[in-house]
Amino acid sequence: MTILDGKALAAKIKEQTAKTTAELASQGKRQPCLAVVLVGEDPASQIYVRNKHNDCVTTGIKSLMHTLPADTKQEDLLSLIDSLNADDGVDGILVQLPLPKHLDEKTVTERISASKDVDAFSAYNVGKITLGRGGFKPCTPAGIMRLLEEYNIEIAGKECVVVGRSNIVGKPMALLLLAAGGTVTVCHTKTADLAYHTRRADILIAAAGRADLIKGDMVKEGAVIVDVGMNRKDGKLCGDVNFEECAAKASYITPVPGGVGPMTRAMLLENTLTAYTNK
Ligand code: GUN
Repeated sequence: MTILDGKALAAKIKEQTAKTTAELASQGKRQPCLAVVLVGEDPASQIYVRNKHNDCVTTGIKSLMHTLPADTKQEDLLSLIDSLNADDGVDGILVQLPLPKHLDEKTVTERISASKDVDAFSAYNVGKITLGRGGFKPCTPAGIMRLLEEYNIEIAGKECVVVGRSNIVGKPMALLLLAAGGTVTVCHTKTADLAYHTRRADILIAAAGRADLIKGDMVKEGAVIVDVGMNRKDGKLCGDVNFEECAAKASYITPVPGGVGPMTRAMLLENTLTAYTNK
């Protein structure tokens, strides 16, 4: 069994990003810039945003933080996005989700210019992925694809089972695996017999957001197991996969933490560089 070491690969990608931004600086060019908008005080979001900011700082990407109060009016948030869209010094824009209940996520994410939508949450970018026409790829699925590539894990012809159908992970993950030639099944809360599907998986992506959902007897001998879960259980961070039980059967498996999470952050930096280069 081999651990899919997202932390190590993300460090390599960050090193490469830092090298690229250092070259730009030595040529007297403008720094790439990511604007991050956080509305409210959700503690998990505050940690995510701080991590993204620190990643930018350590890799030479300018980080513009906008922290807004929880009672921010939708029109004020939209006008901030408009001004970031119009700012030539800003390459990528990210509005941290979830937003407070009174704000409409759909309207807000759609307001970000497609060319600055480094999260790839807009209908335009999702449409591009669906049609296989390039564009930004959402960071978590893109990070998983990169991790599989790094370990030379073949996707074409493989049974790929995605557990979870969120817009951020499950749906785009299924599309990327499909584009790579996988035979893809998407399972979700209404799936009648989850274990029937997961036991068939050569590549299993667990993105349901439920601690310990995938047990050892639900996976095939030799499967590649990717755990996207970030759950808290008795105060401890754990994924959707029972690591001990599943690692005993897997050929490759991601740990939590240190698997998918760091790759998501690395892909955000890459998408920001892409947005910069596209200008
Ligand atoms: N909330 C949880 N994951 C994400 C993400 O990848 N991007 C944004 N903007 N918000 C999130």
